[in-house]
Amino acid sequence: LFQRALAGRLSVPDFVGFGDEVRALFEDARDYRGGEVATYIPQLARVDPEHYALGLCTVDGQRLSLGDDRQSYCVQSTCKPINYALARDLFGREKVHAHVGREPSGRSFNELTLNPLGLPHNPMINAGAIMCASLIRPEAPLADRFDFVMQKWRDLGGGEPAAFDNAVYLSEKATADRNFALAYFMRENNAFPDDTDLAETLDFYFQCCSITVNVQQMSVVAATLANGGICPVTSRRVLKAETVKDCLSLMYSCGMYDFSGEFAFAVGMPAKSGVSGALMLVVPGVCGFAVWSPRLDRCGNSVRGVQFAQTLVRKFAFHSY
Ligand code: DON
Repeated sequence: LFQRALAGRLSVPDFVGFGDEVRALFEDARDYRGGEVATYIPQLARVDPEHYALGLCTVDGQRLSLGDDRQSYCVQSTCKPINYALARDLFGREKVHAHVGREPSGRSFNELTLNPLGLPHNPMINAGAIMCASLIRPEAPLADRFDFVMQKWRDLGGGEPAAFDNAVYLSEKATADRNFALAYFMRENNAFPDDTDLAETLDFYFQCCSITVNVQQMSVVAATLANGGICPVTSRRVLKAETVKDCLSLMYSCGMYDFSGEFAFAVGMPAKSGVSGALMLVVPGVCGFAVWSPRLDRCGNSVRGVQFAQTLVRKFAFHSY
């Protein structure tokens, strides 16, 4: 990074000025206090709604973080693009998409619905994410599968270990009737690979949702996606470039629940939100952002996160067509 700076070859040459602008947008979005924290998982309902944090990492490793930037939160559905990418790296496009579609569902994230082929519509909604979980090292014991995912989060996040919230996991599992229903519905339609253990797959999915990070780590994860799968902090390749390309396309079309079309229209960046108030934004070739603010709008997206993203593209030409 230092050498690039001296050579005048930084991806954002005036990062300090850029940071000042980003800081102003972050503070403006703080005033947006509408929405409610998610209540359908009791442990999430207890989170302080005022938490607010932003992380930023460029593809050459320049970093900024603001607000509650060391506070951990559950990744929830922001694990969905990661699990898709892991399944894709292991099995390739054809095999993975023999089990999950790539079309927005136009329905809510946990809707009991499959596409005309009897497959989940895409990897960014619950059914598709449960399917992708079934494709991550299915031959291995569950403990090894979880270790594998944790190691990948660490590699994607620049070497900082992610953590796990056992209370959220237990709470999630105890209130998971819909996810069980989705899994049985998919099994009824022969959507899973042969020999899939349903209970284990669901357990694994709940565990992945209960991984915790802070915005500093998450912004590096987003920047790794912005950088074609090479972590900008460690310079290590974590995901294949072709995997990342497809992952970003799906985040763009399906990443913001049933607000995805509007978000793609208005903001024009690949993104993924989660019910914890997490939001990951990718500016391909430039940087990754992580926003965390637990209050959600009616679609389930972080109110401040969406506000920040909308003002960001008014200020910077990230929506570039
Ligand atoms: O499966 C669930 O209910 C949640 N843990 C999923 C979390 C989430 O953020 C919903 N997203 N698409």
